[in-house]
Amino acid sequence: MPLLSRHLLGLEGVPKDDIQLILDTATSFREVLERPIKKVPTLQGKTIVNLFFESSTRTRISFELAERRLSADVVNFSADMSSLKKGETLKDTARNIEAMKIDMVVMRHAASGAAVFLSKVINAIIINAGDGAHEHPTQALLDMYSIREKHGTIQGLKVCIVGDISHSRVALSNIYGLKTMGARIAVCGPKTLIPRFIEQIGIEIFNNIDDAIKWSDILNVLRIQLERQDRAFFPSLMEYRKYFAVTRERLDKADKVITIMHPGPINRDVELSADVADSAHSLILQQVLNGVAIRMAVLYLLGTRS
Ligand code: CP
Repeated sequence: MPLLSRHLLGLEGVPKDDIQLILDTATSFREVLERPIKKVPTLQGKTIVNLFFESSTRTRISFELAERRLSADVVNFSADMSSLKKGETLKDTARNIEAMKIDMVVMRHAASGAAVFLSKVINAIIINAGDGAHEHPTQALLDMYSIREKHGTIQGLKVCIVGDISHSRVALSNIYGLKTMGARIAVCGPKTLIPRFIEQIGIEIFNNIDDAIKWSDILNVLRIQLERQDRAFFPSLMEYRKYFAVTRERLDKADKVITIMHPGPINRDVELSADVADSAHSLILQQVLNGVAIRMAVLYLLGTRS
């Protein structure tokens, strides 16, 4: 069964069957990643351009590895070395790249809505690798895959997203995806970092981290994104750490094991203490590994959809 949409622009409105299909397909590719030769010929002859207008370590490398492991031809675009520096628009840049007969574009951009815009001005298949504070669909898919791998299910699990919800594309994609897959969702953070619409869509809100820990099976801890905050939303990082950091001391007070996730990059000892990040119940590096399989699944399903 093919995916409903020819692009992956976000998880809002993506049906449960499509998410299930991506997660199940990723399971097959996880097995490929364990082989001595981690390569299959699935996308041979397809050309994929990675358009990264914003910095990235995990997503950029993960997509490139996924593309190469599917035997696609890969072109990496660096905004700093391009004609954007000379004033060319995103539309013209994309249309010129498309004129060279490419099949898919993976794009990260600082502007919310950039991936949707791109899908309207070129014909290639578009995968959103993070657009501003809007969505980061492959991150949420790899998060859901990692949850399912660890807990055997997503349905009914209590997942609390902790930190800067307002500026986070990871939070929004997780909320859409987890809701579709039947998880119970909460957010925790200072009131100034939680958007008003959260309550309206039936998500529990905690302003106290100890209450959030008591409620949760899983904590997905987000980075405090100082670069996206155009004004101070809390007095200082020290203050944030004091009231909201996920620490060993706080977790020990809960009478249960809680799975710890973080999309990276981590501000160690700000939102998450270093010992918790590196603990046995942390899925952080497993998330990174699963990210390659999820991206292989998305590229395969979109790239071979007729
Ligand atoms: N999780 C994530 O998107 O990390 P990068 O910014 O390094 O790609």
